[in-house]
Amino acid sequence: MAMATVRASTQTYFGNLAVLRGRLQNVRCHYSTVPIKRGAGGRSSVSGLTVTVFGATGFLGRYVVNRLGRVGSQIVVPHRGDEYYCNHLKVMGDLGQINFQPYSPRDPETVLNAMKYSNVVINLIGRDYETRNYNFHETHVEVPRLIAATANSLGITNLIHVSALNADHNSPSKFLKSKIEGEEAVRDACPSAVIVRPADMAGEEDKFLNYYSYLARLRFVPVLSEAFEIYKSPIFVVDVAKAIVNAVTDPQSAGRTYELTGSDRLLLADLINYIQQVTYRPQHIAIVPKRIYNLIAYILELNPFFPRLTRDKLIRQYISDSNSEDIPGLEDLGIKPVPLESYAIQIVRRHRQPDSYKKTLDDVKPLRKSS
Ligand SMILES: NC(=O)c1ccc[n+]([C@@H]2O[C@H](COP(=O)([O-])OP(=O)(O)OC[C@H]3O[C@@H](n4cnc5c(N)ncnc54)[C@H](OP(=O)(O)O)[C@@H]3O)[C@@H](O)[C@H]2O)c1
Repeated sequence: MAMATVRASTQTYFGNLAVLRGRLQNVRCHYSTVPIKRGAGGRSSVSGLTVTVFGATGFLGRYVVNRLGRVGSQIVVPHRGDEYYCNHLKVMGDLGQINFQPYSPRDPETVLNAMKYSNVVINLIGRDYETRNYNFHETHVEVPRLIAATANSLGITNLIHVSALNADHNSPSKFLKSKIEGEEAVRDACPSAVIVRPADMAGEEDKFLNYYSYLARLRFVPVLSEAFEIYKSPIFVVDVAKAIVNAVTDPQSAGRTYELTGSDRLLLADLINYIQQVTYRPQHIAIVPKRIYNLIAYILELNPFFPRLTRDKLIRQYISDSNSEDIPGLEDLGIKPVPLESYAIQIVRRHRQPDSYKKTLDDVKPLRKSS
């Protein structure tokens, strides 16, 4: 009798276990969502973060990958072109930590493959101009929507999406309109996503200080009359990369939007004048009528490779940077912005003539800042 009772209860026990195992098999528990840390925190330690960085091949991408690599993270770099074009990223992490994965943003399966072993996804995809293959809507709305929805379906809640400052439905710029639509698409698909809106970024490979430095090579820099009314707050690209990495590791950031601007508000004309001084180029600004500048932008837009100026970019250049008071900023992510005067020379020195290459900044008047 006792033997039969034991057998019955054993059968019930194993029966329950089988049911439980069946249920557990249906639960999607991603093994890499539990970060395991090891080491002192350098490049050879393990941060527990496995991060897929979309858009890592671009300007901001190399700084983000470097900041993640130096704390010992494993990084997946989805790329579209030849692997050799991302080789510079390989040295930013320990051996085996930076992994390249071919993908197409139009193929959901390859997007899923790029993030199926990750616990963090960062989306830096963006383009300054429309191409024959991708318009702003697809690059800034459809691709981010697919990435956010795939992250959500894999149970990855730690998603960082990079948008742009001044993104607005009523903006005259198609780029900025598509950026705000992209933010909404990402929020809908993954409510815990962190959205980051940086101002124009400055760095060695930027299209901001370098753009005005190229113009400084002309006898005069053409501007619209609005250059004397427009304020810009460029931000050092390293500050943006640090902010993104802090957002990854700060649980308080989930679901929030951040606006990242530099420490100073600068009149565009003053900024151009400062660059002319630092590059030791002629200091002359010429006001060009809007219609003519638009025509120049249209002609440059026809460049099939890399248009330095487009009509949309011209519109964006003449929109003042402003922080919304109710949206957190760089300081909320624990970063103190680096002032432009402390790093501008390292970016624009290469635009100097050889005879002034080594000159110091002693003769350069300090930048006029507005509050
Ligand atoms: N740079 C700025 O001053 C600034 C200011 C505000 C906001 N942002 C935003 O910050 C992000 C990073 O900017 P960035 O300056 O690093 O841009 P970037 O240098 O132009 O790099 C863009 C990246 O996005 C990828 N990409 C572009 N179009 C794509 C498409 N249709 N499908 C898949 N990948 C595509 C590029 O990949 P390939 O190498 O394969 O082309 C590249 O990796 C972007 O979202 C940008 O809009 C930039």
